[in-house]
Amino acid sequence: MHFSIFAMMKIQNDLILRAAKGEDIERYPVWLMRQAGRILPEYREVRGKLSGFKELVETPERAAEVTIQPVDLLGVDAAIIFSDILVVPEAMGLEYQMIEKKGPWFEKTIRSEEALKYAEFDFDVEDRLGYVTEAIRITNKELGGRVPLIGFAGAPWTIFCYMTEGQGSKTFSESRKILFTNPTLAHELLVRITKVTIQYLKAQIKAGAHMVQIFDSWAGILGKEQYAEFGLKYMDQIASAITEVPVTIFAKGAYNSVVEIAAMDCNTIGVDWNMQITDIRNSVGEKRTLQGNLDPCVLYSSHNEVERQTNNMLNSFISKRHIVNLGHGVYPDIDPEKVKTFINTVKNYELKH
Ligand code: CP3
Repeated sequence: MHFSIFAMMKIQNDLILRAAKGEDIERYPVWLMRQAGRILPEYREVRGKLSGFKELVETPERAAEVTIQPVDLLGVDAAIIFSDILVVPEAMGLEYQMIEKKGPWFEKTIRSEEALKYAEFDFDVEDRLGYVTEAIRITNKELGGRVPLIGFAGAPWTIFCYMTEGQGSKTFSESRKILFTNPTLAHELLVRITKVTIQYLKAQIKAGAHMVQIFDSWAGILGKEQYAEFGLKYMDQIASAITEVPVTIFAKGAYNSVVEIAAMDCNTIGVDWNMQITDIRNSVGEKRTLQGNLDPCVLYSSHNEVERQTNNMLNSFISKRHIVNLGHGVYPDIDPEKVKTFINTVKNYELKH
C-alpha cells in the first residue's frame, strides 16, 4: 500500500496521537467535534462563495481550507477533515440534499428488499469518494505536519438510520420499525454498509488520516440488546479491520454499552455529557483513552463559567488517558470566543498525574 508522503511527515504536535495510544503527554490535547464549519464567520465566508454545503464538501481545495481554519483560529490540537457522514450513502447511489435550517433529505429510502436495488455496494470507493481523499492530501500538505488530521465515517447503524428514514428524526421510528418487521433486511443492509465503510476509512488512512473516528450519533435510541445486534456487531468489525491508525468510537447515548465498546479493538471511547467520566473510567479501566465530555451548552455561559466548568471536568480525570472535547458537536450559534476560552483553559491546565 502506498501511503501519502504527507501522512508520513513528522508531526510537530502529536499530543492527541500519544494520548490515544496511552503514551506520555505534557498536557491534555483538545479539539471539538464539528469544529470545521458552523461557528466560524471565516467558514461562512468560504461557503458563501459556493452554491452551498455540498459544493464545499466536494471541492477539495475549499474543504481543506475550512478544515485548517480551526487550527489557525482556535488553536485546536487536531484537524478533522471537512466532510459529512452522508457522503457514504450518496456514493452508494442515495443522493441527499442539505436543506437550510432543516438538515439532510433523501429522495430514495431503503425500506424493503426491492428497494435495495436503489443502492450499489460494490464500487471503487477511491473513485466515488476521491474528493474526500484529495481533500485529505491537500490538507496535510497545507498543514505541513503542524497537527494530526482526523478522518471519520458514520457507524453502520447511524448510516442505516439515514438510508431508511431518509431524513433526520427524533425517534427514527421508520428505521427502528425495520428491526422488528424485517430484521433480515436490516442485517443485509448493515453488512453492506460495513463493508463500504471499512474501505472508505482505509482510503482516508492511505490518503493521510492520522487517526479515525466513527460517529454513532443514534446509538442511544436503541435498547441494549438491539444495539448489540444491529449496532455493536458491525462497529466491532470496523474496529478490528482498522489496524493502521488509532480508532475512536463515539457512540452517543450508549451509556449501558460502554463495557462492550471498551472490549473492542479501539484506542479511544467518546463520552457524551450525560455520562459521568468517573463512572466510565471505573467500568473501562486504564486500557482505553476517554474523549469528551463537556456539555456543549456550557459554552453559552460566561467566560468565567466556561473556565470553571472546564476545570471541574479536568479535575475529574484521574489519569493521562484523556482527549478533551465536548460531549457532542459544537452548536452553530456558539461564540468562537467562548470556544477559545474552553481551549485555553485546557491548554493552561497543569497535569496532576
Ligand atoms: O467535525 C467537523 O467539523 C467535520 C465535519 C463534519 C460535518 N458533519 C460537517 C457538517 C462531521 C464530522 C459531520 C458528522 C455528521 N454529519 C454526523 C455525526 C456527528 C453528530 O453530530 O452526531 C451526523 C449525524 C451528520 C449528518 C448531518 N450533517 C446533519 C444531521 C446535518 C444537518 C444539521 C447540522 O448538523 O448542521 C449535517 C450538516 C452539516 N455537516 C453541516 C456541517 C458543517 C452544516 C451545514 C452547513 O454548513 O450549513
